[in-house]
Amino acid sequence: MKKTKVVITRGIFPEVVQQLQARFDVVHNDDDRPWTAEELAARLAGASGAMATVMDRFDEPLLAKCPDLKVISNIAVGYNNIDIAACTKRGIRVTNTPGVLDDTTADLTWSILMAAARRIAEADAYVRRGDWKIAFGVQYFLGQDIHHATLGIIGMGRIGQAVARRARGFDMRVLYNNRSRLDGSTEKQLNAAWVERDVLLAQSDFVVVMAPYSAATHHLIGAAEIAKMKPTAILVNSARGGVVDDAALVQALKEKRIAGAGLDVFEGEPKLHPGYATLPNVVLTPHIGSASRATRIVMCNTAAANMTAVLEGRDPQNPVN
Ligand code: GLV
Repeated sequence: MKKTKVVITRGIFPEVVQQLQARFDVVHNDDDRPWTAEELAARLAGASGAMATVMDRFDEPLLAKCPDLKVISNIAVGYNNIDIAACTKRGIRVTNTPGVLDDTTADLTWSILMAAARRIAEADAYVRRGDWKIAFGVQYFLGQDIHHATLGIIGMGRIGQAVARRARGFDMRVLYNNRSRLDGSTEKQLNAAWVERDVLLAQSDFVVVMAPYSAATHHLIGAAEIAKMKPTAILVNSARGGVVDDAALVQALKEKRIAGAGLDVFEGEPKLHPGYATLPNVVLTPHIGSASRATRIVMCNTAAANMTAVLEGRDPQNPVN
């Protein structure tokens, strides 16, 4: 019997590909060069399933070219690369990988927060350049204290909560803003207080953005919001590009209206706003929030299981629609 065709749009772990090959006719992008929309449509001809990444745009024009597609399984918790309403209309199931990457992404969030606070990237470059000529300076690379500071988290879902849990070790005050408030016992457990967004912006030493991207969160943090932050504050975004207005942030960092930023995601990735590259007070990483080997393997296995479930007529564990 002819096997069902599935497409894996990027290079993933061989063991996951092999498992899928036992069941499916697998087209795997093993050279990992991102496909154009035309190439993606061509590979998807006759395919019932797609395992995709946040870089693959599944919009109505593409879906119209894929009449056999039954499931798009994103190897990600976010799914703003997919037109969910168009998929639902066409009877295409969409799945994601929530839960399995919370701690790893929270770790990365803290990594860039701490790197920005203590100017790690700047100091590392200074040492490598050979500029370190005098062993110790009382005023070398002065940064911000993290311990006992106020952490403000905008978007208090699973990852936001994992970020909040880590603040305990630093004896921080934790504020959060979310559309819906957490229940009292979770707030107590996290030692986190809900406040209006403007209060959070005005009182936090570290503002962490953890909201998913949507039309409603586009430029959630722009010039007006940055203007409400302390001049000593640091902004961290490891959620999605576009939630922060990059042009406004570059301008604010240039004018030292806030002290710094830690950024893992950008508008129009992998293009970088040209202003960032020359700013010393920003730490930049290339969308690696969930990039530990262990977590990326679990994400691929989860995505494979979700796709397989739909194609075998079972309910996937992580349905989006
Ligand atoms: C990655 O950005 C994800 O959404 O998991």
